[in-house]
Amino acid sequence: MDQKDEVKTKVDIVELISGYLPLKKAGRNFAGLCPFHSEKTPSFMISPERQVFKCFGCGEAGDVFTFLEKIEGWDFREALEELAKRVGVKLKSFAPTEASRTKEKLISINNLAAKFYAHLLNKHPVGQKGRDYLRSRGIKNSLWEKFDLGFAPAGWETVSQLLTKRRYSLADIAMAGLIIARGSRQGYYDRFRNRIIFPLKDGRGTILGFSARLLSDSVKEAKYINSPETPIFNKGSLLFGMDVARGAIKEKNQALLVEGEFDVISSHQAGITNAVASKGTALTERQVALLSRATENVALCFDTDLAGDAAARRGIELLDLAGVNVKVVRLSKYKDPDEFCKKDPAGFKKAIGNAQNIYNYFIESALSRYDPQTAEGQKKIGREILPILAKISDDLVRAHYIDKLAKGLDLDVNLVAQAVEKKTSEIYQEAPSSLSQNKSAIGLEEYFLALYISRDDIISPVDIPVLPVDFENKQAAHFWKWARDIIKSSRRRQSGQNFKKLLTNLPKELSGFVDTLYLVSVSPAFSEKERWVQELVKVAKRIKQKSLKRQLSAIAHQLKIAQEKNLNRELTSLTKKFDKLTENLEKMNI
Ligand code: CTP
Ligand code: MN
Repeated sequence: MDQKDEVKTKVDIVELISGYLPLKKAGRNFAGLCPFHSEKTPSFMISPERQVFKCFGCGEAGDVFTFLEKIEGWDFREALEELAKRVGVKLKSFAPTEASRTKEKLISINNLAAKFYAHLLNKHPVGQKGRDYLRSRGIKNSLWEKFDLGFAPAGWETVSQLLTKRRYSLADIAMAGLIIARGSRQGYYDRFRNRIIFPLKDGRGTILGFSARLLSDSVKEAKYINSPETPIFNKGSLLFGMDVARGAIKEKNQALLVEGEFDVISSHQAGITNAVASKGTALTERQVALLSRATENVALCFDTDLAGDAAARRGIELLDLAGVNVKVVRLSKYKDPDEFCKKDPAGFKKAIGNAQNIYNYFIESALSRYDPQTAEGQKKIGREILPILAKISDDLVRAHYIDKLAKGLDLDVNLVAQAVEKKTSEIYQEAPSSLSQNKSAIGLEEYFLALYISRDDIISPVDIPVLPVDFENKQAAHFWKWARDIIKSSRRRQSGQNFKKLLTNLPKELSGFVDTLYLVSVSPAFSEKERWVQELVKVAKRIKQKSLKRQLSAIAHQLKIAQEKNLNRELTSLTKKFDKLTENLEKMNI
């Protein structure tokens, strides 16, 4: 056993994955909502027996290593190291990969830079402007520390000089995004100048990049700039404040989602410690995944006009699809959470408590922006709200808001209901639901074999009316042949009557296929032996029928050719075969 296998046998995949998402027992497997795509019904399955996972919605599959690689964005080496550490396996050959070395280097550059910027803000005379600015915005020192805020002075080579002194190459500092190569002349200049620095961290507090705000609201320069895309940084893959807010989010089982850095910091200062920011309204799938992993309740408080902002609406839709309950916090007369917190912290807390259901919010917002008395206004409101209501999956909830919209528009409920219905079918045609993908992902043949291996006791495959050649799926055919052979020979030897024991002899090339079979859900009804056999025979017959039909159409094709070429002898034998097959098929139909 190599070290990889040693680690793998010591890790429990169910325990590992349940650290990321809630799992429910589903027969011999565990099921949950897939962390890799948005879904409302669980199609993410884990087999403790095989130590593998698979999502029947999006197709992601693998073992403990693959899971960590995907969910944490690590490479194999990082996943192996982490798991080895957890189960106390000492890895012998510690040879980090090129990629993981690069990542580590970038993280240490970021750490050093963050310390430097924080030092300038907190201690250095050059940081006076930064200190003045933060104070003018009412942010207390304890919050500077909590969020590791910093200050980048106006110079062009401040950070590059510090980091090169610490023996980092200019190319590496540029890769970290802290300096930029000059186009025309030689050399580099600092990306962040004369700005407040916000380290951007993942949920564990690793600094992946930075954002930086100007000290004045100049029209010439962007108010906020961020690190560019680097091997470790992607703006849409993190939520500002997640490392600080994580505990409070878990505790309250709710996150407050705001737009900007100052919205987060002011909220925390006001005692609202579950606030995180998307950094702009266009919430990404990655951010939604981070949120839905931490909690199932999100109170959204964006400062832009929500209903008018397609990006924000998409965010709500994504959260909703991920099974997150979303509520919308009303800002009343304040322009953003930052201002609300400063002017009326108690009022802001109350507003969070009174957060509205998103559909109420959408409807009220549209009714206030357009005139529901005019045909033109009604049309605009309808265009905005109908698609939203059409996507509500719960019938009763949908009916409730259809009613509300109809009242607001002063229209007949049935009329509005019909319009919503029409939209629903349009949307359904555009994007088939994950459910339909789900069903097609498990074929009849896989279902049959999954059913067959779902019990430990063995019925002779000879008693089941389907042969390896009847399978269309090559692996299924291969597996069925192997199963028949091994059961036959074990009968002869009078040895183990336990299928699980036989499976230890499974050829390597079939092991991935059998992993998948273990992940297919089999109804608990078939744990009763008699019903199990009935179901097996029933499904086997359907496979056989399909196989006969395939053979028939192949012979029909050959017949046509034989006729065209006047091959009489072949015609006779083909016709015989055809009749025989038809007869068999008819027998099966009774
Ligand atoms: N943002 C960004 N890049 C930009 C502009 C904005 O990343 N070029 C993000 C910032 O995180 C910002 C958020 O989008 O906080 C919202 O932008 P905006 O409303 O313009 O800024 P405020 O949060 O109001 O910023 P401030 O309070 O500092 O004026
Ligand atoms: Mn704002």
